[in-house]
Amino acid sequence: MLRTLRDLEQEALERLDHVGSEGDLELWRDNYLGRKGALTLLLRSLGTLPAHQRPAVGRAANDLKRSLQVALGEKRSGFHQAATHRAAADVSLPGRRPVVGRLHPVTVTRRRMQAAFGQMGFQVFQSPDLELDEYNFTLLNMPPYHPARDSHDTFYMTRPDLLLRTHTSPGQIRVMRETGAPVRAVVPGTVYRYEQPDASHNWMFYQMEGFAVGANIRMTDLLGAIRGLARLLFGGEARVRFRGHYFPFTEPSIETDLQCTVCGGTGCRLCKYSGWVEIIPGGMIHPTVLRNGGIDPACCTGFAFGAGVDRITALWYRIPDIRWLYDNDARFLEQF
Ligand code: DAH
Repeated sequence: MLRTLRDLEQEALERLDHVGSEGDLELWRDNYLGRKGALTLLLRSLGTLPAHQRPAVGRAANDLKRSLQVALGEKRSGFHQAATHRAAADVSLPGRRPVVGRLHPVTVTRRRMQAAFGQMGFQVFQSPDLELDEYNFTLLNMPPYHPARDSHDTFYMTRPDLLLRTHTSPGQIRVMRETGAPVRAVVPGTVYRYEQPDASHNWMFYQMEGFAVGANIRMTDLLGAIRGLARLLFGGEARVRFRGHYFPFTEPSIETDLQCTVCGGTGCRLCKYSGWVEIIPGGMIHPTVLRNGGIDPACCTGFAFGAGVDRITALWYRIPDIRWLYDNDARFLEQF
């Protein structure tokens, strides 16, 4: 009887090996473990055995039953796993649409500006956000006692000589010291001011410093570069106006306004109901600043400007409030 059990085991496991589908597996189960299966019948016939054989044969038969059940379970889960793998790799299923990000409108504008200045021969440089007081102010002709410092609400660090740059102008000094003259460069980046935000102001915003230093650089070159930028960015109809201004690091200095595109010049929140938005202050680089940049003002002159990238973005996309650019509201950002 024990031999019969062993033969049965061998046969059952061999056949199980050849089972190739879930349907065949059910048949196999019926054949061996089902109500009329070989093993079941054998267990039922235990009673016909002589009493002294029964315990050993009974144990062996039960062991066999358990091991066939285990083998059945393993085969079944093998089929299930294969089925899930097949589903995962089913190339005929419709694809899952990947979430595609997009560029932030300020990034788009910054790149358009860089491309426009690139056409005019300017190279792109970087300058640190965490700046030395000396570079942010002193070397730009704003020594510690200078009242012009008061117009820059400043985030100072615990270390008193460090601050978050209030403008990209320190990039002028860093680049001039690195390249010498002649040079044409733009320095884009974020700047920080401890001030009250409104539709056209924020405590963090993008600027793009630009400057050209060389022999015979004149104010008209500056005006030409700004007009060139306006034309490349906004097309021929953009209306630009220049007016005199004051900055400690330029002499003479100007301010550039672009006619407001949000209201068309009739007045709105962005232009503070004036019809014009200040976008690019600039001027001729002060001799002291050239000298601090390691350039001899006797042989070279230069112009500089500090374009407001956020405002230009707002004017290009007709966004009435620059703070919206940094709200991180997907409903807003998805529109660009
Ligand atoms: N740095 C100035 C500011 O953020 C802007 C500026 C004015 C930059 C005149 C210049 C310039 O390069 O020539 O307020």
